Amino acid sequence: MPRIRVSSVPHTLGESDHPYLSGAWTPVFEEYDADDLEVIGEIPRDIDGIYFRNTENPVHDAIGLYHPFDGDGMIHAMTFRDGRARYCNRFVRTRAFAAEQEAGHALWAGIAEDPRRSLRPGWGAHGAVKDASSTDVVVHAGKVLSTFYQCGEGYRLDPHTLDTLGTEAWTPLDGISAHPKVDEATGELLFFNYSTHAPYMHYGVVSPDNRLVHYVPIPLPGPRLPHDMAFTRNYSILADLPLFWDPKLLEKGFHANRFYPDLPTRFAILPRYGGPESIRWFEAEPTFVLHWMNAYEEGDEIVLDGYFQENPSPAPLPFEHRDPRMAKLMAYVDEHSFKSKLHRWRFNLKTGAVKETHLDDRILEFGTFNQTSAGTRGRYLYSTTTEPGWFLFNGVVKHDLDSGRSWSLPFGEGRYGSEAPFAPRIGAVAEDDGYLVTFITDLVADRSECVLLDAGDIEAGPVCRIMLPHRISSGTHATWAPGSAVRG
Ligand SMILES: [Fe+2]
Repeated sequence: MPRIRVSSVPHTLGESDHPYLSGAWTPVFEEYDADDLEVIGEIPRDIDGIYFRNTENPVHDAIGLYHPFDGDGMIHAMTFRDGRARYCNRFVRTRAFAAEQEAGHALWAGIAEDPRRSLRPGWGAHGAVKDASSTDVVVHAGKVLSTFYQCGEGYRLDPHTLDTLGTEAWTPLDGISAHPKVDEATGELLFFNYSTHAPYMHYGVVSPDNRLVHYVPIPLPGPRLPHDMAFTRNYSILADLPLFWDPKLLEKGFHANRFYPDLPTRFAILPRYGGPESIRWFEAEPTFVLHWMNAYEEGDEIVLDGYFQENPSPAPLPFEHRDPRMAKLMAYVDEHSFKSKLHRWRFNLKTGAVKETHLDDRILEFGTFNQTSAGTRGRYLYSTTTEPGWFLFNGVVKHDLDSGRSWSLPFGEGRYGSEAPFAPRIGAVAEDDGYLVTFITDLVADRSECVLLDAGDIEAGPVCRIMLPHRISSGTHATWAPGSAVRG
């Protein structure tokens, strides 16, 4: 029998016909600790660590139009050890979450709404939205670090209880963007932020014992909206992408994304501890990239993989809703609208030349790879596929970059997964010797489960399925932390 402890967080959000507050995105308000859960198959004994997933999970009715990236951060965790699994989930107790709990209603409008409707000053690059710490999650210095893509404060959580421990003492004034990178080989955390004032971007390094040891400006021509960064063993890679807030509207306080197809995509490559004087700039085809994959050094070249958007400024999707702005919102979160494809850039440090090419013509994004090969040449990448028209992951694709082969696994009708990081098997002997871990919300069975796939043979289907005590909401990012990273 499952052993379950549960409590509910005060909320005012009712049922909604909003596409990202219903179906697989229906928020939950319960916080669970549960073990001895129902398992279909057998939990392997050679997986040791914790799968963390951050979700956008609002508790109050939105001020105006709700965007799926506005919700409060809720972290879900599944701990694996000795053939057993334990589940827990907690809201990230951000300053904004506490303030809205005290008020009993929303205090901040979201990114799709007029910022003048926010009742209090906000955080980060946008300045009028709340730091929900709901975008990304990594584990660094033994603790969970949740982050917000508009550059929030960065919240630490206990990896075992998910208790919020507070914000980072080292957080710079301009905050931390989502997608700080942990180099598992050194224990360092690499991060960046962006803002609407010069120099518009900074880059930093935090030591394995959680001290800020490097923080330098990355001067850009104006306010930009980068979302991710990459690193090799010796270099960090940041980007100046030609999709950003229209400067004229920004002057008036409005945040309208615009793609500038006549501007190149610019890459800043600098040594891990380099300053602005050591940046090498490269120019490539204009695009927007939400997420990079791995990067590595090869001879005179830096090789970077990521998801090139062929249509960063998609037309609104036909979508019947009482708020006509929903049609644009639906397109901007739909990979089949912005057409993201696995792509490779090669930067020659000697000649300054850039070469780039698609690696696959399918619509893919939200990829993962074995983090023990981060920064060095790896062989396998794992991407997700999405439901056309929707921000819902409906399957996973594995690429073997050496042979050019690929494999895919659809999750099935009405089954939507979460980003599926790679968990190495204890005693792994190959780069793909391990598991992909994902939470799947099954709308047909009306429940959620944690699924392990054999990364060596994803098409074989789940190794095991662990039933969660409640149906959880979808969200954006997830991570895998090996047991050694969260124990002493
Ligand atoms: Fe992201």
